[in-house]
Amino acid sequence: MKNSPNNPKEVAGRQAARLVKDNMVIGLGTGSTTAYAIKEMGRLVAEGLHILGVPTSYQSAFLATENGIPLTTLDEHPVLDIDIDGADQVANFVAIKGGGAAHTREKIVAMSAKKFVVVADESKMSNALSHVVPLEVIPFARKLVEKEVAQLGGKTEVRMGISKDGPVISDNGNFILDADFGEIHDPASLDVAISQCTGIVEHGIFMNLDVVYIGKKDGTVEIFEKS
Ligand code: 5RP
Repeated sequence: MKNSPNNPKEVAGRQAARLVKDNMVIGLGTGSTTAYAIKEMGRLVAEGLHILGVPTSYQSAFLATENGIPLTTLDEHPVLDIDIDGADQVANFVAIKGGGAAHTREKIVAMSAKKFVVVADESKMSNALSHVVPLEVIPFARKLVEKEVAQLGGKTEVRMGISKDGPVISDNGNFILDADFGEIHDPASLDVAISQCTGIVEHGIFMNLDVVYIGKKDGTVEIFEKS
């Protein structure tokens, strides 16, 4: 399907937004690609579509409100119809997320959805995962986590703020450590191993992708569905 303009993030985000149907409860991801999906959903709401959104960050909450999408919570709607979110890298229906430090809420929302749809531009597609894995870490546990992750073969760096001195603080009040594991040959095992580290709230490996929308420079969108 041809789209215009030819911004790969925009075509992926806007096309995925069309999966949203009347009366659905939607997970609203974080990042610049999902922002296009949120804006498109806002346009559909203005045309009469009835949906509720659960935001994964302050960013998506602000954007949804600006675009007229009513918000709800997981307390009120623990099961979501669909979640649309971006990714930093995708390989074989596994994503690394957390470039915006929002992966903890993003994972909670993704795991609460019947269908998890990732939207990304073609630069994010890869044959193997090698992107740094963001870790949300309780500040008190930073040194312990550095040691635990080193034992798993990862090299950590505390993510520092831009336009803020010192470390990035997540929406949940925690540090973000970016862990470099080189090429990740077995993401499922790494997922389990990182999850067992004391002091890590959540990590950015997402194993539960159902559909991937990849926007391309020529304005087309390639859709991959897990069988
Ligand atoms: C935020 C995320 C984002 O979805 C991811 O970083 C992709 O962002 P973008 O669409 O801006 O490239 O995981 O925590």
